[in-house]
Amino acid sequence: MKVKGEIYNFCAGPAQLPKEVMEKVQKELRDLDGCGMSILEISHRSEAFKEILGEAKTRLKGLLSIPDDYSILFLQGGASLQFPMVPMNFGKGAYVITGRWANKAYEAAKLQGRGEAFSGSADRNFEYIPKIYREDIPKDAKFLHICDNNTLYGTKFFTPPETDLPLVSDMSSCILSAPCPVEKYSLIYAGAQKNIGPAGLCVVIIKNSFLDSAGDEELPLMLRYKTYAEHDSLYNTPPTFAIYVANLVFAWLEQKGGLKVMEEINREKAKLLYDCIGNSALYLNKVSPRDRSIMNVPFRLRRRELEPVFLEEAEKAGLMNLKGHWSIGGIRASIYNAMPKAGVIALVNFMQQFERENL
Ligand SMILES: Cc1ncc(COP(=O)(O)O)c(C=O)c1O
Repeated sequence: MKVKGEIYNFCAGPAQLPKEVMEKVQKELRDLDGCGMSILEISHRSEAFKEILGEAKTRLKGLLSIPDDYSILFLQGGASLQFPMVPMNFGKGAYVITGRWANKAYEAAKLQGRGEAFSGSADRNFEYIPKIYREDIPKDAKFLHICDNNTLYGTKFFTPPETDLPLVSDMSSCILSAPCPVEKYSLIYAGAQKNIGPAGLCVVIIKNSFLDSAGDEELPLMLRYKTYAEHDSLYNTPPTFAIYVANLVFAWLEQKGGLKVMEEINREKAKLLYDCIGNSALYLNKVSPRDRSIMNVPFRLRRRELEPVFLEEAEKAGLMNLKGHWSIGGIRASIYNAMPKAGVIALVNFMQQFERENL
């Protein structure tokens, strides 16, 4: 379908990237920094690429204030490869089931006999974040696993649970949306395709003492975190183009003023949308208000038969990919860092107009 005018892409991932980054990629694609070759054509062992990798790490470290005793790794296999890799390396995990991705992580651990689900929010359709009580955490677990932001259900852990265990978190859909107390986590992983860059890349931030504790002697080298750490993510050919784009996104975030500024903008965008839903007689979001994600805003129409019409009309207005995840339906607006406030305002205006015409 061809749409006239400005397009806003609300896809949950792969998601909209900053316009300025896309323009720079386009400009440099045939000739990286005057070297006459493309980033797609140069060796991962070239000085030019090593510089990009180094810059990407330094920028990410600065943006997230990652302490010195952590390593930053660039892996492949998306966030999903982390689901089995974490228990393979670290043993039995205690899992909090707050949605589809948290459950997938748990299922991958269970297949190895290394997962116990002890808490979750399935009882209320994943519409809240459960309180984690230390005494409920299985005593024989080696780490506690959470999914920080639940992309399908639009919930978020705004404070990490208190635990004596190493805390492991899937931050695929919230990384870099706001400052994060990295020091409270032993391992953070994030698939890139929402707030970082191209799909397939997965960023891992790991505390060195946790890394050292890995029981990985039986594992193939490619499945050991230590392999990536010891070779500075260059054990094999890494996803060079994805790392290059990630570095540009990190630079863009620096230019915007860093994560405190991003958090303010993201909160403002999310509030516009939640207020629109809250003040309406047509739209409905049942997530407990204190747990509402500022990245993914799912909602339903009280007249469900209107949802396909809503989606069709929205696309005609240039508001793309608002369909909820195929497993639950409804509507979902993903408003990651690259979504400008103007995009959210356009969506809110459209929703109000649609309500006036259909209620
Ligand atoms: C929170 C979360 N974790 C994991 C995944 C899976 O990521 P990937 O497709 O990169 O494996 C997604 C997918 O979008 C996600 O939202």
